[in-house]
Amino acid sequence: MAADAPLEQARQLIERAHAGEFSAPLVKSFFDEATSTASHVVHDPATKKAAVVDSVLDFDQASGRTSCGNADQIVDYVRSESLSVEWLLETHAHADHLSAAPYLKQALGGTIAIGADICSVQRTFAKVFNEDANFACDGSQFDRLFKDGDEFSLGNIPAIALHVPGHTPADMAYVIGDALFVGDTMFMPDYGTARCDFPGGDAGQLYRSIRRLMKLPEATRVFLCHDYKAPPGRTDFAWETTIGAQRSSNVHVHDGICEDEFVAMRTARDATLDMPNLILPSVQVNMRAGRLPEPDSNGIRYLKLPLDAL
Ligand SMILES: [Fe+2]
Repeated sequence: MAADAPLEQARQLIERAHAGEFSAPLVKSFFDEATSTASHVVHDPATKKAAVVDSVLDFDQASGRTSCGNADQIVDYVRSESLSVEWLLETHAHADHLSAAPYLKQALGGTIAIGADICSVQRTFAKVFNEDANFACDGSQFDRLFKDGDEFSLGNIPAIALHVPGHTPADMAYVIGDALFVGDTMFMPDYGTARCDFPGGDAGQLYRSIRRLMKLPEATRVFLCHDYKAPPGRTDFAWETTIGAQRSSNVHVHDGICEDEFVAMRTARDATLDMPNLILPSVQVNMRAGRLPEPDSNGIRYLKLPLDAL
């Protein structure tokens, strides 16, 4: 048996896709400039079965208002293409935007899925937010918890979940046919990689997760969760690249960069970064699978703002 059986399985899946054994999935991406997030609707053209990867619920922090402009673009697209949503995939518990998965589930159906290690993220943040016993740290807020190597499908297209920790302990990447959704691991080659300084983050682990993904075929299409343009020079947002491009030119982890070099760079860079604007609202909601906290006795829902805790 291969040393890394799930990765070998993913590699074979992508090679079968490249050989034309099943249709290549079609990917339509939606970019939210407010949070720099790319959400993806991926579907099997043969069966019209679809998955939504990393959706965004709009949140105006000043007023505390949530809205569904981004999510409704996805709803409109899914309906106009007559797609049937089977999966609402989260690559991790995002710290920069609220997930719209529950809204999309109500509108379109689908199974909300995330990595099984969300439980450790829930344990960490249940302490930060002093959640009571009603908040379960067992991932039960989600419909499906994926472990490394778990297989699923999108119509006729096989798919596999890979555990790629480092940015957070629970990050997953999803291989669907020849398309790889990497969440917050690597970004566009000219921008580099995701930060590793949130609770439970680990730069060495992120390096190993990325190098693992880089063993997949060079032609694998890679879809990212974020883009920030790359200073200086790039003027357009971008969210699609390939494993080959990452290996040859990712500024943080191209071929030849060793783990120690990466960890030194990542740790120094992370020390300069502010916390994301929406980390406290986002994690509080996303650890509930995107559901807002229960209303208080006056019918209003509240988010907590822990002071001096992060
Ligand atoms: Fe993230």
